Amino acid sequence: MRKIRLGVNIDHVATIREARKTYEPSPVHAAVLAQLAGADQITLHVREDRRHVNEKDLELICKVVNIPVNLEMAPTKEMQEIALKNKPYQITLVPEKRQEITTEGGLDVISLKEHLKDYLKPFKKAGIKINIFIDPDKEQIKAAKEVGADAIEIHTGHYANAKTEEEKEKELNKIKDAAKFAKSIGLKVYAGHGLTYQNVQKIAEIPEIEELNIGHSIVANAVLLGFQEAVKKMKELIEKASK
Ligand code: PXP
Repeated sequence: MRKIRLGVNIDHVATIREARKTYEPSPVHAAVLAQLAGADQITLHVREDRRHVNEKDLELICKVVNIPVNLEMAPTKEMQEIALKNKPYQITLVPEKRQEITTEGGLDVISLKEHLKDYLKPFKKAGIKINIFIDPDKEQIKAAKEVGADAIEIHTGHYANAKTEEEKEKELNKIKDAAKFAKSIGLKVYAGHGLTYQNVQKIAEIPEIEELNIGHSIVANAVLLGFQEAVKKMKELIEKASK
């Protein structure tokens, strides 16, 4: 049977930590628990504005987990230095805009082609796998191959956000066609963004897809699934002290 790897993105554990600029919850602890629960990879996005995880989290996660670490990053000089210093198993190039709430679309590899050819050389030399997050578009996929990517991650956000059944079907077909094409030219095919318990299975059924990277929905459900335990423990401590 085909096995799809699950990369668990722990960014939003750090989003909760950063809401108070404190030490908890730690994305490093979340990475360890994800590994214990069967995650195949830990994914994190160190952003220019460090709104959630930072280089220290990356450094610690690379040291403590025994599964691949996938660093999502914008193709900038600063991020190149951080990645080469920490040597994750894989980098995933993503576009980054300061004002966006989350990554809004795939990287425009076509317009960055010349930059990326040189930019990616040190990663190749260091043996770090290269994945590029792109929209399900043939020309972008060809460009990803040309710049030397090992894999593409198809942006599933438009599928996830589709409102009607017709729209969903249309977006799903784009992903299916893109997956087929990418594999036919020798790229590994991954997917991610906006995947939830409700929409993941249609994507996981696509035969060419080898890896899914999922974050927000897992963290959201983790908060709710652990909520009762967390309240009970606080009650117990208060009751013990007030006896
Ligand atoms: N893949 C990539 C390239 C991303 O940028 C993100 C968001 O950081 C994800 C997957 C995970 O998306 P979500 O948090 O919506 O599951």
